[in-house]
Amino acid sequence: MGDTAKTVARKQLPLRPAGSDTVAALLDWYDRERRDLPWRSKRGRRSEPYRVWLSEIMLQQTTVKAVIPFYETFLRRWPTIEALAAAELDDVLAAWAGLGYYSRARNLHKCAQAVVAEHGGQFPRTEAGLLDLPGIGPYTAAAIAAIAFGEPATPVDGNIERVVSRLFAVKRPLPAAKREIKRLAETLTPQRRAGDFAQAMMDLGASLCSPKKPSCLMCPLQQDCHAHALGIEAQLPVKLAKADRPVRYGTAFLALSEDGYVLLRKRPEAGLLGGMLEIPSTEWGDDWLPVDQAMTAQPVKTDWWPVPGVVSHTFTHFRLELMVLRAIVPANASLTFWANPEQCRWVARRDLGSAALPSVMRKVVAHGLKEH
Ligand code: ADE
Ligand code: SF4
Repeated sequence: MGDTAKTVARKQLPLRPAGSDTVAALLDWYDRERRDLPWRSKRGRRSEPYRVWLSEIMLQQTTVKAVIPFYETFLRRWPTIEALAAAELDDVLAAWAGLGYYSRARNLHKCAQAVVAEHGGQFPRTEAGLLDLPGIGPYTAAAIAAIAFGEPATPVDGNIERVVSRLFAVKRPLPAAKREIKRLAETLTPQRRAGDFAQAMMDLGASLCSPKKPSCLMCPLQQDCHAHALGIEAQLPVKLAKADRPVRYGTAFLALSEDGYVLLRKRPEAGLLGGMLEIPSTEWGDDWLPVDQAMTAQPVKTDWWPVPGVVSHTFTHFRLELMVLRAIVPANASLTFWANPEQCRWVARRDLGSAALPSVMRKVVAHGLKEH
């Protein structure tokens, strides 16, 4: 606030104040246009908490389209929270492989166990109760409370942030504007149908109110939308440029046996990709180590040959560049294991699909198997 010029300009616009008419228009649109998604209930019914929770945790990782096959696999394999709580962690991690951030999968498993052990298999109904569970932050707690329990809670994800910032023409850049946007969204949240309201905003953000070219003419909020009235919808939300991620460098050792096995190593439980499998590699540092030093990290003592090109992978806080060295070893060769031999194992190439192998390591394997 505090910018009177802008406030006055807005008041002159032929707009309705955002309020219950706005919400009613949005809900009507949702009733006609809502996406049919596997975790959504039939129209007018509440969704099952287990399904909402599972889908929301997965949707924090990637897009709706990418999540659907993972969601369906999980639900088929673990149809109830009791089944998931009783699963082996390694199986859950393996099923998560490809979705990224394994800490989420660990917390998913922990959360299932907590709900079963401490809440008799029923999720708490309130945001506060949900927030106490492992892996459930403010967004997820609000999403479950609204979508599964009909509580008037307001989850705000990237799509909702975009719609709200446009609807109210919020010009303050993100992330500073996050609280303001959340507050505006809360103000709109209806007492009834809060879950449909949230999902309607998500669907609108995923369809008409797209990042680059919003389709305002078809939008149910068009008459209430300040950004559209000002003609600045495509410029919002304003985002501060992110600082470039630092880059880290490492060398990975891809050992292949002639009979179709790949040498993998289990990572330490603590830290990034904890407990997952990896292609053994050097430490990741500010630059590539001198070759003789890098070679002290080779998992088996054999001849290594560099694979041309570099595998690049972006994590939240840094980008990783891995040089791949490849070795082909005879079947049943007796090899001297060097680094952490007790963590190393041979895994058949045909079993890699279901192994707890993170995306970055899948890239390493794919890169190393390419014909050069
Ligand atoms: N993105 C995150 N949660 C969602 C949901 N429930 N429906 C559609 N998109 C979503
Ligand atoms: Fe988004 Fe345009 Fe609708 Fe405003 S009118 S909410 S900018 S699609």
